[in-house]
Amino acid sequence: MPASKATSHTSNRLRLGVNIDHVATIRNARGGSLPDPLRAAQMAAAAGADGITAHLREDRRHISDEDIVRLSAEIDLPLNLEMAATSEMLEIALRHKPHAVCLVPEKREERTTEGGLDVAGGHNHLAPYVRSLSQNGSRVSLFIEASSEQLLASASLGAPVVELHVGAYCDALADGRAKDAAFEFERIEKAVNQGAELGLEVHAGHGITYDTVSAVAALPTLTELNIGHFLIGEAIFVGLEAAIFRMRHLMDAARGVAG
Ligand code: PXP
Repeated sequence: MPASKATSHTSNRLRLGVNIDHVATIRNARGGSLPDPLRAAQMAAAAGADGITAHLREDRRHISDEDIVRLSAEIDLPLNLEMAATSEMLEIALRHKPHAVCLVPEKREERTTEGGLDVAGGHNHLAPYVRSLSQNGSRVSLFIEASSEQLLASASLGAPVVELHVGAYCDALADGRAKDAAFEFERIEKAVNQGAELGLEVHAGHGITYDTVSAVAALPTLTELNIGHFLIGEAIFVGLEAAIFRMRHLMDAARGVAG
């Protein structure tokens, strides 16, 4: 199936962005060129992904500059470039003009993106990034905690999209901490609703698995999920296409749309 056909065909259908960072993590464990993240992106397209997400980190621990060049040139799906708000990353994003840029917090010592961006506290630093990227044609998204303060700050910055960090909810559910999961889910639900009221497009990501996707996917005004680590891990056992296909099916079932 041509990748261009793998886009949303009903308005209630949630988009799936597949994050391919950890294909590059495995490649980089040995050096060389295999496994190839571009091949993963092409397979994701064939399996029904609506977009490809890649995080170019300051330390280049997984995705490389060359990966961004190849993904920009060779995939048919929209590319969502995750990056920290630094002048180096801004220059790269302005050069490649990805469909979307998701601004994320980044700490050198972290294993993965911990927590959301402090948009409220970082307003003056972030404003020129949102402006330049938007003027350059990329749809800017801010990766934030599910908090009213961060949503209001994101709206006031003029970013059209927020992505809610749902890692705490997913971890609590996976660990069997039902009370914490319920608390976190309530925060997410409130934030999704508030985001929609503010006119923001609301996405979610981080830590999503087959076991944690359904309740999040069922939130009706959410429009996109970005999922990486679990899908790449699951691909070891069932293959990437089958892993994405099953996730897609669970998302569609949660939304009550035919897959
Ligand atoms: N969304 C954002 C903004 C992220 O930083 C990440 C992790 O790189 C993801 C989604 C995907 O998270 P996971 O790999 O846990 O599915």
